[in-house]
Amino acid sequence: MRQKLVAGNWKMHASQQMVTSLLEKMLSKQAPSAKLLVFPPYPYLSQAIQILAESNIGVGAQDCSQAEDGAYTGEVSATMLADLGVSHVLLGHSERRQYHSETDASVVEKAKRALAAGIIPVICVGETLAQREAGETNQVVSQQLTPLVKQLSLAQLQKVVVAYEPVWAIGTGLTATPEQAQEVHAFLRSLVAKVDKALAEKMLFLYGGSMKPDNAASLLKMPDIDGGLIGGASLDADQFLAIGKAAE
Ligand code: G3H
Repeated sequence: MRQKLVAGNWKMHASQQMVTSLLEKMLSKQAPSAKLLVFPPYPYLSQAIQILAESNIGVGAQDCSQAEDGAYTGEVSATMLADLGVSHVLLGHSERRQYHSETDASVVEKAKRALAAGIIPVICVGETLAQREAGETNQVVSQQLTPLVKQLSLAQLQKVVVAYEPVWAIGTGLTATPEQAQEVHAFLRSLVAKVDKALAEKMLFLYGGSMKPDNAASLLKMPDIDGGLIGGASLDADQFLAIGKAAE
């Protein structure tokens, strides 16, 4: 039985005032039994970690460097994130692939850095609308996940979380149907099963792409959907917690 995980990717939305009010509002309500994580922008990680210190809500970062340390202006290393108390890091989000030249190869390198620092990588994969319409979904997500499956050891892979985010569903209000999402999740799990069946059964596969309180339950009840990676709705405490409850 896999514990459901609901993660909120705040993307580039935050201010000190917003972080305090959003997180305090979340803490004032009854926490769902699903594991919750928030991914604030870098400058607010410490503030979020401090506010959430006594809670079960974890804090993740939205990226990390593929370098260990050194002359890489503007980069943030996995060891720095671990030093702050960050538990997870998003890697390969489609917005980083699209605007910051993230590649499958750099995602693998970053995942290795994160794991070495004791941070859990949440690897994002997903196809564009054109790729889906061309019938290339499985091929695309396989190309994105396979390098990781091949290059990480089983012990490393055990710690990895995968998020399937169809690019056409991100921030658009369009959501994959539960059946469409389930099909891809089952396919992704089968790629891991080729290497180790027991590991594939334990691995968490999250769905992301316009997940909201009104569509969360139908997605989260699918057998291979183990949680959500939430963008817009994670900026509202009530909506985020409602999705957390839908995961119970
Ligand atoms: O990382 C989160 C995803 O990009 C989903 O964003 O819920 O706003 O569509 P969204």
